[in-house]
Amino acid sequence: MQSNVARILITEEQLQLRVGELAREIVTSYGTIDGHLTILTILNGSIIFLADLIRRMPVMMRLELVTVSSYPGRATESVGARLTREVSADVRGQDVLVVDDILDTGKTLRLVRQELLQRGPRSLKIATLLRKPSKAPPDVAVDFVGFDIEDEFVVGYGLDYDNHYRNLPYIAVLSKEAM
Ligand code: IMP
Ligand code: MG
Repeated sequence: MQSNVARILITEEQLQLRVGELAREIVTSYGTIDGHLTILTILNGSIIFLADLIRRMPVMMRLELVTVSSYPGRATESVGARLTREVSADVRGQDVLVVDDILDTGKTLRLVRQELLQRGPRSLKIATLLRKPSKAPPDVAVDFVGFDIEDEFVVGYGLDYDNHYRNLPYIAVLSKEAM
């Protein structure tokens, strides 16, 4: 698996440091949290980020999971977002924090945000581990960003290529031969 990695972009240590900072930023931004926080995570790419992030947020929270498919199989270009596991949560009156792995074209987050806003949350914020600023559209504003990266396809720390490499502890670029 490691032999398919061309370059490590963000090391394990950098990830741990930044995720800790993000957790503190997020908790501070909500001020006194009174039990209305719902973390809504977009599967599958966000699972590792989510697990590390929420264990550093010592506040009452509920967890909800949705699945959005945008990069089927070996695709490395988004083909448009589709919800494959619906938002079932009752988010009315809740402070909702959406946790996603990466903001690329923004189709995924735009869709999830629309779905959520129809359900009347008290507030809605978005946290994403990575962002490709050269592609991210201005209408999909995110509140918390871990790292801005170049427009290249990355794997690891939850992100996949054809459902592989999610278990790499760092963010990396694959070699041409591996794709
Ligand atoms: P968007 O809808 O184009 O913003 O795409 C977002 C989703 O596509 C992310 O949540 C990822 O699951 C996937 N994605 C986007 N860029 C990458 C990448 O560089 N590597 C792996 N998955 C990616
Ligand atoms: Mg995703």
